[in-house]
Amino acid sequence: MPRPDANVYRTLAAQYGSPLYVYDLDRVTEQVGTLRKNLPTGAGLYYSLKANPLPSLVQSAVAAGCHLEVTSPNELAVAAQAVASTDHLLYGGPGKTEAELSTALLTGVRRFSIESWTDMERLHRIAGTLGLQVQVLLRINPSDAVASGLAMSGADTQFGFCEEELLDQKPRLDGLAEHIEVTGFHVYYGTQIGSVDKIADSVEFAIASIERLSEALDLSPSILDLGGGFPWPYGKLDEPPSLHGLRPALEAILAKRRRSARAEIWFESGRFVAAASGTLLATVLDLKQRASGECFLVLDAGINHLGGMSGLGRLPRAGFQFQPLQASSREQESARPATIVGPLCSPLDCLARKTSIPQALQVGDLISVPNVGAYGLTASLLGFLSRPAPIEIALRDGRPVALHQWRHGHDRLQSAVNTQSLTEELI
Ligand SMILES: Cc1ncc(COP(=O)(O)O)c(C=O)c1O
Repeated sequence: MPRPDANVYRTLAAQYGSPLYVYDLDRVTEQVGTLRKNLPTGAGLYYSLKANPLPSLVQSAVAAGCHLEVTSPNELAVAAQAVASTDHLLYGGPGKTEAELSTALLTGVRRFSIESWTDMERLHRIAGTLGLQVQVLLRINPSDAVASGLAMSGADTQFGFCEEELLDQKPRLDGLAEHIEVTGFHVYYGTQIGSVDKIADSVEFAIASIERLSEALDLSPSILDLGGGFPWPYGKLDEPPSLHGLRPALEAILAKRRRSARAEIWFESGRFVAAASGTLLATVLDLKQRASGECFLVLDAGINHLGGMSGLGRLPRAGFQFQPLQASSREQESARPATIVGPLCSPLDCLARKTSIPQALQVGDLISVPNVGAYGLTASLLGFLSRPAPIEIALRDGRPVALHQWRHGHDRLQSAVNTQSLTEELI
């Protein structure tokens, strides 16, 4: 099936408006196929909804053979709708509340990635209240580092147990056995691990740590979730890093396991599965040519719709690439420097600084940003300045199959507010 092109994007924007996220679900199927071909034979693959919880995209990942990894009640609600059975759902994340743990258990989740003793004891308590037995994967943070786009393990972060927190804790684990069965380990090193060698290194470090802990805790794990961090360009048309050689490299590492030799192997991916499917369409609202020579191109989409966390300056700016979608005769014309900004009242609302735009780009023209199906809308500052979320449209075989929009704005809650007692307390 041919990929959507400028004509398709123009037609969709004319019909559904701008800004518009367009997802090509065929790309999700393709990406899952490519990843599975490059992973060890028989390995399970989890789609991480944090990359994009769009229901039709999640359903496509499931249809292509993924299980689902979730980290919030809303992700869980989407996941529960997408699967025939909740048996394979994995619930993770570093700060799970009692309320969400009970929601997860009542929804049917029976497997959790556990990040600390507090997390584990909280789960034990809630599972006990509901009379349930649950399985946990101990999320570990190995001390050996591997370079990634955003390191989450092998670095001093809030994620997982450090080995020392577990090594001599078998009695403490045994004390929780009434409601918790430790079935394995979970390691996630970080996102955008940029080469086969680095991914293989991360798996090697993870297995070494798992072997040490299995020995110390006298465990024979049945599941190892080894994360992934499989790379894909973000908001650019760059060539994606090749995964060629990954399968044999990983199989050689896994063949050396001892205590964990019989465990099932799982990987997780958000970015690699979802990124390629998504394109953001936006319209030029204003073009400001300053006397200094600086040109600002104002779009109807800003950091509220794309790349929000980098917009805050906490991460390197993504430097998105914008493709003009106007008539082809104008596409060939010469370029000029410009800074591309969104419609928000903040100088932080900048999507690309000192990039180049076609000389002939005009107010009203449509442009597109590729490879934003992962960490696009979902990682943005949707609440900032209260603008509506863009429409999101999913295509299958080139045809629209689902239309979504993130709900937005303050709901007034039903419970009565006792203003009288609050005022008394304050004075
Ligand atoms: C625990 C965990 N698993 C999976 C993912 C998905 O990673 P990626 O999108 O790089 O595949 C993340 C991303 O932050 C994560 O924290």
